[in-house]
Amino acid sequence: MDRIRVHGGRDLSGSVRVSGSKNSSLPILAATILCDGPVVLRNVPELKDIETMCRILRQLGVENHRQADGSLYLEVVDRKPVRAAYDLVRQMRASFVVMGPLWARRGRAQVSYPGGCVLGHRPVDLHVKGLEAIGADIHFEEGYVHVVGPVRGGTVFLGGNYGSTVLGTANVLMAAALGQGTTILEGAAMEPEIEDLCHFLNRCGAQVSGIGGHCLVIEGVERLQGCEHEIIPDRIEAATYLTGALMTNSPISVDAVAPQHMLAVLDKLQAAGAQFEVGKDFVRNLPTEHGRIRPVDVTTLPYPGFPTDLQAQFMALMTRADGVAVITEKVYPERFMHASELARLGAAIRREGSSAIIQGTHELSGAPVMASDLRASASLVLAGLVAGGHTDVRRVYHIDRGYERIEQKLQRLGAEIERISEG
Ligand code: EPU
Repeated sequence: MDRIRVHGGRDLSGSVRVSGSKNSSLPILAATILCDGPVVLRNVPELKDIETMCRILRQLGVENHRQADGSLYLEVVDRKPVRAAYDLVRQMRASFVVMGPLWARRGRAQVSYPGGCVLGHRPVDLHVKGLEAIGADIHFEEGYVHVVGPVRGGTVFLGGNYGSTVLGTANVLMAAALGQGTTILEGAAMEPEIEDLCHFLNRCGAQVSGIGGHCLVIEGVERLQGCEHEIIPDRIEAATYLTGALMTNSPISVDAVAPQHMLAVLDKLQAAGAQFEVGKDFVRNLPTEHGRIRPVDVTTLPYPGFPTDLQAQFMALMTRADGVAVITEKVYPERFMHASELARLGAAIRREGSSAIIQGTHELSGAPVMASDLRASASLVLAGLVAGGHTDVRRVYHIDRGYERIEQKLQRLGAEIERISEG
């Protein structure tokens, strides 16, 4: 199993180009099941999770390959398969999002019920509620969710105890797009990735309005054709590099980004002392004379709030602050596995329910650590950049799920980072 070794304390500078959004690509890839005719997607990152989704789609009769210019070509060649098997869904929860499109285009779907995950209990009740509200007849059998019946449209409120659901919104939206009747999706997730999916669907001939808001109105259509579409930049990857820029007090420009998708994050990083030059598609960190980091409390929330997918990286930042910061998780109250690994590097972090209290320190020292999930591994790499000595991050397959060529990108900024293969 590979690990990533980071030698801390190097001066970083230069620019890093952000990849297309993983979490935007995944539901859009699933949406190709709905389309008659080829789809060409640009700016799809080369990541493990994308490979997994492409494999699932092949099993579901959607041929796909990378073209010479890097774009992804997809075309449905077989409409018979309706089953997404446990073996694939267990590798990536996001594959549950093929359910809506399979049902809407092929009349039925059988999708393995996703298991638990390190972020805690992750139910799919809202997906089920939403699909039932627009006509689905759903039952559970031998670990699979079975969906049949015509898509009829309807009105449904998709908010849950932790806000709305991103992939639940995607599932219902995709099914409603190719059905009969009108669907009113109240309490819809407002994440930019959902907006991107709406634009993709409309480009294919769907009629979705209210895009970007919490109420989506979908007039079902009889047919969706293929289209060409460019995936939005990955706001979490961008923010991860900006957090690293602030931690190392480095003149780093993060390019090919959509700053308007990162307002909550930019605001908190600025509160922590960052000075940014913000352009149309770049954010540049301007180092400060003292390089100090102020403690800032953060609460994760659904968009446009501070993203849970940046909580671990922000915690790494706060381990270096001049004082105490409180980070509260309101999306995944159990998502704190990285706290004990950061502690191995010398961070002082205490858990109080769904909050973590971090006492900043100026001394982190490198150690072997274990990544528990994708964002946790990013936080450990960031901490490694400022820790004395070297930090070995194990289980880096997590990072390959969501950060395209992270060690090359950091090397280009001047970091001393390498991947060590252990067969
Ligand atoms: N929830 C329910 N019932 C449901 C669905 C969700 O109670 O039926 C709860 C969840 O347990 C959680 C909250 O609602 O407490 C929000 O979960 P959501 O459904 O929005 O998460 P998701 O759609 O499964 C996506 C991202 C995650 C990201 C979350 C929150 C993708 C592929 N995944 O997951 O990304 O953390 O939204 O923003 O888009 C990551 O990229 O590292 C990652 C985990």
